[in-house]
Amino acid sequence: MAPFADILFTTNELRNQKFQEEKIMSQSQQGKTALITGSYGGLGTQFVNIHASNGGDLILVGRSSDKLEAQKNEVTKKYNVTAHTIAIDLSKPEAAQTIYDTCKNNGWTVDYLINNAGFGGQGEFIERSMEQDMSMIAVNIETPTRLAKLFLPDFVKRGHGKLLNVSSTAAVMPGPLQAVYYATKAYVTSWSEALWRETRDTGVTVTVLMPGAMQTGFISSGNLGSTQLFANAVKPDSVAKAGYEGMLEGKLDVTAGLTATQKPFMAMAPMLPKKMLMDNVYKMQEQGSRRK
Ligand SMILES: NC(=O)c1ccc[n+]([C@@H]2O[C@H](COP(=O)([O-])OP(=O)(O)OC[C@H]3O[C@@H](n4cnc5c(N)ncnc54)[C@H](OP(=O)(O)O)[C@@H]3O)[C@@H](O)[C@H]2O)c1
Repeated sequence: MAPFADILFTTNELRNQKFQEEKIMSQSQQGKTALITGSYGGLGTQFVNIHASNGGDLILVGRSSDKLEAQKNEVTKKYNVTAHTIAIDLSKPEAAQTIYDTCKNNGWTVDYLINNAGFGGQGEFIERSMEQDMSMIAVNIETPTRLAKLFLPDFVKRGHGKLLNVSSTAAVMPGPLQAVYYATKAYVTSWSEALWRETRDTGVTVTVLMPGAMQTGFISSGNLGSTQLFANAVKPDSVAKAGYEGMLEGKLDVTAGLTATQKPFMAMAPMLPKKMLMDNVYKMQEQGSRRK
């Protein structure tokens, strides 16, 4: 059993940590504008609501102008903040430049850039179409990279600004039956962590969020509903909160929302022989692998 002093220390530590977190979450974001891609998706909606509920303004980015307008009306009424929308297909190579130019031309200053949009997709690499996997690389890698290339120099010149890139726990292992998706997220984590170091003394921060399996549109868009990996997927609210807090604190990385099965699996993954690891991931992502 742990000595009494240790227990007391740990309790105080936890209390202190909770207090710090609450302090951060209650910080007013008035005058701070967050540009959020995939704003009306499962995780994106949570980021939007957290930022707006703290008084922050928004630039909402997504494909459907109807959904963006509906979201804008809802948040501006509910939270009394300013919101702009940019309807754009993020798989197009010109998307990032169009977003940046739209902000510049309208005089919208971005304080927080949240590269959240992304998607996966179940299937054997050789059976998935060229279009499916190339547009995934464009949305998950190319456009976030282009957006950061455009906005980060402005952040550094101003001496403040925050970049939050949404990666995945998929980043830390190969993902047979979602081979390209896992590889895109490995890129996002590696790239973000390198940027964290490069921007360290500039007043700018770069954070990467690595969620576990969440109950969002990701499951249906990726045809993953019958897989074991998503059997106990968590709600995205606590994941968004952890990521947003991590971004405000300028943390290097944040892992959040692991399911009960994922926790031991993630802990053991680095110790498992690679072939065994890939076999496990393959099985968890097979159609119909979800246990009743
Ligand atoms: N859910 C999970 O289990 C999980 C786990 C780890 C990481 N993540 C990551 O979390 C992030 C958010 O995903 P989510 O879980 O919230 O899924 P989601 O509910 O499907 O949201 C994804 C958002 O990205 C947008 N998007 C996709 N392709 C786009 C395109 N070509 N142009 C513009 N917008 C596009 C979607 O818009 P449309 O609806 O119009 O397509 C949607 O708003 C992604 O980066 C994902 O990889 C998810």
